[in-house]
Amino acid sequence: MVQVAILGFGTVGSGVAEVLTQNADAIARKAGGDVRVKYILDTRDFPDSPFSDLVVHDFSVIESDPEVQVVAECIGGATVAYDFVRRSLLAGKHVVTSNKEMVAAHGYELLSIAREKNVNFLFEASVGGGIPILRPLAVCFSANEISEIYGILNGTTNYILTKMINEGADFDEVLREAQAKGYAEANPAADVEGPDACRKICILSALSFGRHVYPESVHTEGITGITTQDIAFAEKANMKVKLLGRAVKTDDGKVVCYVSPHFVPASAQIARVDDVFNGIVVRGNAVGETMFYGRGAGKLPTASAVVADIIDAINHAGQRKNIFWEDADPAMQGDYQALEQCWFVRTDAKEAEIAASLPGAKLLGEVDGQVGVLTGPMSLNALLESGLHMMGRIPVL
Ligand code: HSE
Repeated sequence: MVQVAILGFGTVGSGVAEVLTQNADAIARKAGGDVRVKYILDTRDFPDSPFSDLVVHDFSVIESDPEVQVVAECIGGATVAYDFVRRSLLAGKHVVTSNKEMVAAHGYELLSIAREKNVNFLFEASVGGGIPILRPLAVCFSANEISEIYGILNGTTNYILTKMINEGADFDEVLREAQAKGYAEANPAADVEGPDACRKICILSALSFGRHVYPESVHTEGITGITTQDIAFAEKANMKVKLLGRAVKTDDGKVVCYVSPHFVPASAQIARVDDVFNGIVVRGNAVGETMFYGRGAGKLPTASAVVADIIDAINHAGQRKNIFWEDADPAMQGDYQALEQCWFVRTDAKEAEIAASLPGAKLLGEVDGQVGVLTGPMSLNALLESGLHMMGRIPVL
């Protein structure tokens, strides 16, 4: 029998306890024996929960108990959770987590400690919720040079954008719905302003290109600046507005990693990823283009990935060494402002001014007295230097 401690009994932690209990027989068959929750760490008590007897408030009880072989960290954030995960690894326990903030901030260090201690540190649930994406990157695509990875990485903002596009719904009302369904972060600014997608693209970039990417070095824009005019212009261009995290290798071998809303052709697979669903596209030089799709947020989809990591950690003690990357190298990080791509621009300039500033650009007509423009490939630096007065700009995928 393997004993597990769950840190944090919120949405994900309670989902992990539920899946481990409900699917106990199937899990035992796959893990080669029973997997039992010995402790649940939380500052609160849960007198009405069937797991109330397992609740402890002192992490050192778990840290010093040699019977606990696997710790499932579901607290979130990069302070207390980071301290407990570090100490669990140093105590020789496997750690699995859904915590993208901690992995994006401290992944290199935690993976190094796990390697030193010959235990596994696994975090499949940190990106894409229930979608398997980290193992495919680390294992199934290991024969490829990856040139690009991008995706809809935040379920809450995709849910909001979908409702705004399809139903003309009000931003605040849809955000409240997403919160009620357990999709949103504790502080929804992390969803709508882009940090959550940023943390996820940092993890995907690290696995794809082998170097840690610190979130503070990544250009990040969320959806709070998206207007109904942007959505109307996208429709005129036969495109959709989607928030994407993207990491792309440029000709000089550097990787540009960023988060921004994009205009995406309506015919592209990624444009059809709606509601809380996430979609991730990977381009490899042997495999070509592949896409992963599924529920990117929510209690049970996330718990599904956490519990699978628990089983994998048990079955492959000290063997998941392919899930690893080196520390960041600023010299390998490309400049977002120098990346060549097409742009949608919203402006109050006259046609003649647009033609003079952006020769060859395509006009999308007018919405509410503003003109929409699609440029050819150019860097943001060049766009800014064009001198055109812009009320909004969005890259085109
Ligand atoms: N708030 C996140 C989302 C949860 O909406 O995608 C999953 O990481």
